[in-house]
Amino acid sequence: QKLDLELAAIEKGGFDHFMLKEIFEQPDTIFDSLRGRLDEQRGMITMRGVEEYMQKFIDAQRIIMVACGTSWHAALTAEYMFEELCRIPVEVEYASEFRYRNPVIHPGNMVMAISQSGETADTLVAIEEAKKAGAIIFGICNVVGSSIARASHAGAYTHAGPEIGVASTKAFTAQLAVLCMIALKVGYEKGTLSRERFLHVLHELALVPEKVKEILQQHENIKAIAEKYASARDFLYLGRGYNFPVALEGALKLKEISYIHAEGYPAAEMKHGPIALVDEQLPVLFVATRDRFHEKIVSNIQEIKARRGRVIAVITEGDEVVPHMADDVIAVPAADEMVAPILNVIPLQLLAYYIGVARGYDVDKPRNLAKSVTVE
Ligand code: G6P
Repeated sequence: QKLDLELAAIEKGGFDHFMLKEIFEQPDTIFDSLRGRLDEQRGMITMRGVEEYMQKFIDAQRIIMVACGTSWHAALTAEYMFEELCRIPVEVEYASEFRYRNPVIHPGNMVMAISQSGETADTLVAIEEAKKAGAIIFGICNVVGSSIARASHAGAYTHAGPEIGVASTKAFTAQLAVLCMIALKVGYEKGTLSRERFLHVLHELALVPEKVKEILQQHENIKAIAEKYASARDFLYLGRGYNFPVALEGALKLKEISYIHAEGYPAAEMKHGPIALVDEQLPVLFVATRDRFHEKIVSNIQEIKARRGRVIAVITEGDEVVPHMADDVIAVPAADEMVAPILNVIPLQLLAYYIGVARGYDVDKPRNLAKSVTVE
């Protein structure tokens, strides 16, 4: 038993939990997902699987993305990327709903399956059904040789390394990096994206690992915020545009790890319901980094403050407005709005982690959850 404990401690590399270790690995894992693909000097992205099916991507009338859980949030972020860069309509589907509702699939349709484990039963069956209907399946998996990877016609691995913590962290940021590269590559080849914008986002992606390092250095600040809010009963997470899926993912992390009821919402949608929950007890987390919606989200923060909600805001370094309005802020380095989700999710992972720990839970083995759901 003592040996087991010592072995587990070694595996965690000095961290208290796998989840924390995996959060801190992200500068390296994101770098690994870009490595050998993103070539900033030559201004190009090399991805064999995408190249092989490039014409199919270019001709696609639509792309269907199927996934579950955190991977579904990566798909939702990718919808924004693909629509903007490639001008291809994207439908993001929960694999469990998609597989049972007799969806409309035509021969040659592109279906992208996103899965960390590559073994999620609903996602696997969904692509098998789509394949029978003649779709082309593009898999984005972390686990090499997994069932979904094998069932796909082509794909791209995320290269995040083994993820042990049940709550997905490093697999998510690697999925975003890979999806962004694919959208860039397809958009550029298709001609819906200028060389200038292509090179700009490429450069922004290349800067992500260093920026993640900077965010991780703030763990003490995030821990202090976590301890302040650890006794909350409910939480609301709000974001707009590229930060909306980040809000969903932040709320999911909190639910999984701390068992606090948390909801993610598009910030503008809060007035259609969630605002009724706001009182001095309710913490509202805003993902409010600088992007084209910034002014709008600032007025959403004011609406919450006017109702005496407690506001925690993830902001861009140098923002001088939001700190005067919010109760607590976490500042992240400036980034293009398309790569910002990769950065903005990091403080939310840490917040959920520290709240879970403050409440005394085993964050690596949250109750009732499984790392990979291989049954229905
Ligand atoms: C489970 C895990 C989640 C994961 C989801 C999808 O619910 O607990 O962390 O996001 O399955 O898993 P996949 O391996 O398909 O990404």
